[in-house]
Amino acid sequence: MDTIIEKVDSHITGNEPNAALDAATEILKKGGLVAIPTETVYGLAGDALNPDAARKIYEAKGRPSDNPLIVHIANEEDLKKIAKDIPEAAYKLMDVFWPGPMTMIFNKTELVPSTTTGGLETVAVRMPSHHVAYELIRRSGIMLAAPSANTSGRPSPTDAAHVKEDLDGKIDMILDGGACHYGIESTIIDMTSDIPTILRPGYITRDMLEEVVGKVQVDPGLESTSLNIRPKAPGMKYTHYAPKGIMYIVEGNSANGIIRCINRMVKERQAAGCKVGVLATRRNASAYEADEVIVIGDREDELMISSNLYRALREFDARGVDYIYSESFEGDGLGDAIMNRLIKAAGHRVIQAPTI
Ligand code: TXA
Ligand code: MG
Repeated sequence: MDTIIEKVDSHITGNEPNAALDAATEILKKGGLVAIPTETVYGLAGDALNPDAARKIYEAKGRPSDNPLIVHIANEEDLKKIAKDIPEAAYKLMDVFWPGPMTMIFNKTELVPSTTTGGLETVAVRMPSHHVAYELIRRSGIMLAAPSANTSGRPSPTDAAHVKEDLDGKIDMILDGGACHYGIESTIIDMTSDIPTILRPGYITRDMLEEVVGKVQVDPGLESTSLNIRPKAPGMKYTHYAPKGIMYIVEGNSANGIIRCINRMVKERQAAGCKVGVLATRRNASAYEADEVIVIGDREDELMISSNLYRALREFDARGVDYIYSESFEGDGLGDAIMNRLIKAAGHRVIQAPTI
């Protein structure tokens, strides 16, 4: 299959005809797949109500079919068609955070095929704010099932070139709307529990949610390393976002301690003949003696760090490093979500730098 790639203006609004969106609509109507830019990461979209399209999504990604897809909508009426028992709190959250990087889980209606929901009786729903995604859904009238548009297990794509790298020849079309703003996936909140429960952290934090609806809890499976407590979002249990090189996160209470610890490990690996990379903040970058140092951004600018994270992991792959040592990027807001992704990318390998 030839994959068509078309650029679309990321500010598109209104009703002026757009050839690329029209072509995408035709493909979706026939059950085909189109990769679309969203404000979080690129999504691999198909008609959410067409079980064949959902099957093709799992196949193109190489994704286990028990891992449910998020349905993307462009108006609240569509939500009522696919979800039931919608609590008052959900309407409050929608008012504040939709369109935007927030996904909510509800009980599903009959309309949603179980292929789309990985066999679950619940459905995850989000209204994207990226104009290309939003306009495609609004204009086509098709609700879009869309997981991140990466091959399963690889870092999520944050621009069209990443999607091409993974899925060229496997999908019908890629809409290129430039780089994604947030760079990490949406916050997922389970609205079927009495207290809304965060199943995946994202740009919308617990504090931001609690300001709107009061108490919000975090899925115990997210923080636990115990095998008995499983995350509620099926996707969170898989090793995800992993670069090809083996990655370690190095924590510590002084920049000098972290730099010294990383440089020592870099030297050891290099002595064993390995190519070694470091994922660094701008301020520390020049202090590392690795083969490949990638600057992720300024420590104070969490949005810069989140929007560069997956790109950096892919870049290490492209440069063929065997080992990656990363600084840790804890912070108040996005820091949780960034560390959640980073720790998974590192397969939970976290090292404490000795204090100096
Ligand atoms: O930002 C995002 O959410 C991106 C863009 C494309 O919208 N999408 C995305 O989809 O990250 P995906 O498929 O890569 O991740 C969806 C996550 C998975 O961990 C999945 O298990 C979980 O959501 N999920 C989906 N439906 C669920 C449900 N009914 N119950 C629990 N977890 C669900
Ligand atoms: Mg994904």
